[in-house]
Amino acid sequence: GRCVVAVDGPSGSGKSTVSRRLATSLDARYLDTGAMYRAITWAVLRSGVDLNDAHAVAKVAGEVDLRIGTDPAGYGVTADGTNIEAEIRGAEVTAAVSAVAAVPAVRALLVARQRDMIAKAGRIVVEGRDIGQVVAPDADLKVYLTASAAARAARRSAENASDVTATAADLARRDQLDSTRKADPLAQAADAVVLDTTELGIDEVVARLRELLAD
Ligand code: CDP
Repeated sequence: GRCVVAVDGPSGSGKSTVSRRLATSLDARYLDTGAMYRAITWAVLRSGVDLNDAHAVAKVAGEVDLRIGTDPAGYGVTADGTNIEAEIRGAEVTAAVSAVAAVPAVRALLVARQRDMIAKAGRIVVEGRDIGQVVAPDADLKVYLTASAAARAARRSAENASDVTATAADLARRDQLDSTRKADPLAQAADAVVLDTTELGIDEVVARLRELLAD
C-alpha cells in the first residue's frame, strides 16, 4: 500500500545512504530532492545568468527539461537530455546551490514536481530539507537526522576525498544559508522523529526507522 517516508536533515547527517537503503528494504521508490536543486543549479551556471537575479534564475529553472529517476539502486539525472549525475556533485554546483534553492519560484516549481512524483509512486522515501514540513506534510513517517558538525564534515570529506577543514567550512556556510532563509527548510517538522546519527551506524538507523514504521 501507500507509504511515504520524509527524511530531512543537513548534509553529512546520513540522509542519502539511509534513505536509499530504507527504500530498497521497503521495496519503495526513492527521491533525492537535493539532486533536483543541484540539477537546476547546473542549468543556471551553464546559462551564465547572474545567480542573484531571481527572475532570470527562475526563468532558467522553468525552461530546463529536468528528469530524475526514483530507483534507489541508481537514478539518472538529465538536463535537456544530458546526463549530469557527476556534474551536480562538483564544487561549482555545491558552491551555488544554496543561492538557487533560496529563490521562491524555484522552490515552488520543484515542490510541485516532487508532490506529483510522490503521488505517482505511492510507496516512496523522499529526502531533503523541507519534505516533512512542506512537500509531504501528510507523510506516514517524518524523520529528522542530525549529527555533530565534526561527524558530518568527516563523513562528507571521506565521501569526496576532500579536505576535512575545508569541508567543515563549506557545510557551516551552507547550513547558515539554508537556515536563514524566510521559510527555513532546515527547521524540523514538529511531528518529526529526531535521530542523532553521530554514534549510530547506517544499519542501526535503518533498523530504527523500520521499527517506527511498524509501530
Ligand atoms: O547532502 P548535501 O547537503 O550536500 O546536498 P543535497 O541534499 O544534495 O542538497 C543540496 C542543497 O540543496 C542544500 O544545501 C539546500 O540548499 C538545497 N535543498 C533544499 O533547499 N531543499 C531540499 N529539499 C533539498 C535540497
